[in-house]
Amino acid sequence: MPTWSQDTYLAALAFAARAHQGQTIPGSDLPYVIHVVQVCMEVMAASDEMVQADLAIQCALLHDTLEDTSTTFAQLQGAFGSEVAEGVQALTKNTHLTKDQAMLDSLQRIQTQPKEVWMVKLADRITNLQTPPHFWTSQKIALYRAEAEIILRELGPASPYLAQRLAQKIEAYRAFE
Ligand code: NI
Repeated sequence: MPTWSQDTYLAALAFAARAHQGQTIPGSDLPYVIHVVQVCMEVMAASDEMVQADLAIQCALLHDTLEDTSTTFAQLQGAFGSEVAEGVQALTKNTHLTKDQAMLDSLQRIQTQPKEVWMVKLADRITNLQTPPHFWTSQKIALYRAEAEIILRELGPASPYLAQRLAQKIEAYRAFE
């Protein structure tokens, strides 16, 4: 028996697919929802290390809905409850801050959440360290790797498994610089 609910997964996936309809993964022709499915797959691979796997799965599938779509906090809260909405909120950058500040601010807010939310951020960066979009400069790629090291340092303690996987991805990413 899985430690998470298939029905919960399906409801969050359908919501995310609708919310991201028409968007594609940057530098790719794949629908954006593929990104959130990949992030969810990474957290599910670490479900042994979780107490609340359903929280992680929902936050993974919904993690970009507040940042990149017209979805509101109230809609998420209505559909999935406060814990999920607050997790997604913590994973959402505050657009009033500079890029560097926004990342640190989000990491601090994630650290006030259950460990499952930390794991979604680790999984997101593991997923995003695949081949970078062709239009990224080496400088941008190097910065993105440096940022990943901060994420690993700040959130790695939530999951030995995902921390190790992220560390491997960071090493392999050097080849793109
Ligand atoms: Ni993401």
